[in-house]
Amino acid sequence: MSKQKLQPEQNRPTLAQLQEQIDPARLPRHVAIIMDGNGRWAKLHGFKDRIHGHRAGVKAVRHVVTACGELGIRVLTLYAFSKENWNRSKREITALMALLRHYLRGQLPELQKKNVRFVASGSLDDLPPATRRVLDDIIAKTAKNTGLVLNMALSYGSRTEIVDATKKILRDFQAARITEQDLTPERFATYLYHPELGNPDLLIRTSGEMRISNFLLWQIAYTEIYVTKTLWPDFRKADLIEALIAYQKRERRFGKV
Ligand code: FPP
Repeated sequence: MSKQKLQPEQNRPTLAQLQEQIDPARLPRHVAIIMDGNGRWAKLHGFKDRIHGHRAGVKAVRHVVTACGELGIRVLTLYAFSKENWNRSKREITALMALLRHYLRGQLPELQKKNVRFVASGSLDDLPPATRRVLDDIIAKTAKNTGLVLNMALSYGSRTEIVDATKKILRDFQAARITEQDLTPERFATYLYHPELGNPDLLIRTSGEMRISNFLLWQIAYTEIYVTKTLWPDFRKADLIEALIAYQKRERRFGKV
C-alpha cells in the first residue's frame, strides 16, 4: 500500500535529477500500462465511492500522456477497461463510461495540440452507443496526427483478441487469401487489433500486483515488466522515469544468451 504517499516524500530525487539518468537514445518505443489501484486510492483517502479513485486516475492519465509525448515515447497503450470489468456493479460501470466520455470530449483539443493520435483496442461493439460515438469521433479527428500514439484498451481481453484474430484467419483461409504454410507467428500478429503499433518494450503495472490480467498476452512475449507499489492515481512523470531507468538497466536478450 502507498500509505507513505500521504506523507511528504523525503529523499526522492528531483524530476531533473531523474531525467538526467535516462539515455534518450535507448527509450522504449512502446510502453504499456496496467493502471491499477484506483479503488484502494479512494479508500485510502477516505472516500466511500470508488469513482473518486477513477476520477483521480484520469488526472494521472493526462500527466502520463503529456510525459510520454515530452520524452519521445512513440506508443502508449493504457488498459482502461477490461472485458472482465463488465462484471463490476452497474453503478461503477456507468460512472466509468461517463468518465471516459468526459475524458475523450475534454481532451480532444489537448490531444490535437500535442499531435497525439488516438486509437482503441478491444471489443468496441460492447461499449454503450453514446461512448462509442465519442470514441469514433476522437479516433477520426486525431487520425492524421504524427506524434505519440495513444492506444486505449477498452472492453479489452487478450484471449478474445487472439480468438478474434483466429476467426479472421479462418475467414481468409476459406476465401483462399491465406494457406496453412503462410501462417507464421509474424503473419498471425497481423490479425491482432493494432499490429502496426508493434509489441510493447516495457509493461508497467501499478499498485504492486504481480499479474498480467489478460492484457496483451501475445504481444508481451519479450516485454520487460516493471511493477511499482504506487497506486495509479498517484502515478506521475517521476514514476514513469523511474520505470524507464529500471528498463534501461535491464539486458534484453530475446531468448539469446
Ligand atoms: C483499476 O483500479 C482501474 C480500472 C478498472 C480502470 C482504469 C480507469 C481509469 C484510470 C479511469 C478511467 C480512464 C479513462 C481514460 C477515462 P481498480 O478499480 O481495480 O482499483 P483497486 O484494485 O484498488 O480496487
